[in-house]
Amino acid sequence: MAARGGFNSRIGFIAAAAGSAVGLGNIWKFPFEVGQGGGAAFVLVYLLLAFALGFPVMVTEIAIGRRTQKNPVGAYEALGFKNWRWLGLMGIIAGVLILSFYNVVAGWAFGYFLEMLRGHFDVGQHFGEFTQDMLRSGGYGLAFMFMTALIVSRGVSGGIERASKILMPALVIMMLGLVAYAFTLPHAMEGIKFYLLPDFSKITVPVIYRALGQAFFSLSLGMGALITYGSYVSKQENIVTSAAIITLADVGIAFLAGLMMFPFVFSQGLEPTGGPGLIFVTLPGIFASLGTGLGIIIGSVFFLLLSFAALTSTVSLLEVPVSYVVDEFKLKRPLAVWLIAGLIFLMSIPAMLANGASEFWSQFITYPGAQSATDYMTFIGHIANDSLLPLGGALIALFAAYIWKKHNLNQELEEGFPNFKGTWAEKFIDLSVSYLAPVVLIIIFILNVLDRFFGIQVF
Ligand code: PHE
Repeated sequence: MAARGGFNSRIGFIAAAAGSAVGLGNIWKFPFEVGQGGGAAFVLVYLLLAFALGFPVMVTEIAIGRRTQKNPVGAYEALGFKNWRWLGLMGIIAGVLILSFYNVVAGWAFGYFLEMLRGHFDVGQHFGEFTQDMLRSGGYGLAFMFMTALIVSRGVSGGIERASKILMPALVIMMLGLVAYAFTLPHAMEGIKFYLLPDFSKITVPVIYRALGQAFFSLSLGMGALITYGSYVSKQENIVTSAAIITLADVGIAFLAGLMMFPFVFSQGLEPTGGPGLIFVTLPGIFASLGTGLGIIIGSVFFLLLSFAALTSTVSLLEVPVSYVVDEFKLKRPLAVWLIAGLIFLMSIPAMLANGASEFWSQFITYPGAQSATDYMTFIGHIANDSLLPLGGALIALFAAYIWKKHNLNQELEEGFPNFKGTWAEKFIDLSVSYLAPVVLIIIFILNVLDRFFGIQVF
């Protein structure tokens, strides 16, 4: 443990893993996915998939990580299955792709912090200009990648653990306050209805695969982030309860974000289908409505906390390729960090250009069956979040159940949870990892690829 560093305490691991899970996925992505996915129906499917499939895959990833004390590629080898290394590599590729666009949005959040600080509440109406300004996007993106690299170069258990413990609860308290305010606004009820009253006819194949992609993205699953974090966890830790806490925290915060956003959206007469700009367009108007003084305080603190939530996620995304390179190629950690961070920053430039600055990247690809072109940033999301993560999750479950074998998984889970055998948790995890997760994830993966990339509707 000591050699690769570890988390200092139980709460430290939970804080760091929850820090990885809670991020832009909950507050930026979840509301706009719900908005585009037709509201409550999407929420329902999302909740179901997160608990039935996400949670067991999370348990499995952490167990593999702790057993092997390795990065996602080395882990399969350490278990004696060298020919499964490609699965770890696939995860690393997914993580690198995700970080390459995630960092751009994180830069926006950070940029918004500075705008709010200066009382520029009209930035919401000029979101398009904001993202097109490459000097700003590039600058904020660079700053964000720099902060991420700085933290990762010092190792996971440094300041991040302590900071998460204070700042994440602060974010939750702030959101609770904003939810209370949201409920007092005109047309708030319309937003709540949209968000919570499901129209079952809206549960379509695209809603299902988008909700699945969102669940895996939000829980940081399917790419090895939690194998990597699991490798730093002590044997005294109860993996099952930790994963349950992380899942509940992540889903809870996403849920809260929706509860806040939809009254805000409807009270301003905006469209819930606004896409990736949704929070950036909606929130400044709300902060302005609080009056300049309070608006500046609440607005800047909110975006600062959002930036921090994003930072604990970018840290986990960067940690995956770094731990791989450090373990497998014996590179010094700081060198690995700066090399990989630099590379991913370069990869993020097309994603910055994809929001209006360049026609080519903004209209990158048109799928068969789609009416309009998809920009590069969204395209990467379709490949990485919605395709590679669920596929990775399916294969991790298959691997654990049939290659590594269930009794080995159970043995690892019993460490820190001696009475695990015979509990409902064991039965549920067994059912999901052995059957539910592999089958359902693969089916949804196939439906996604056929529908989205080939325009073939099976249902
Ligand atoms: N879960 C993070 C979020 O919701 C994003 C993430 C995905 C982090 C995959 C690590 C791995 O913001």
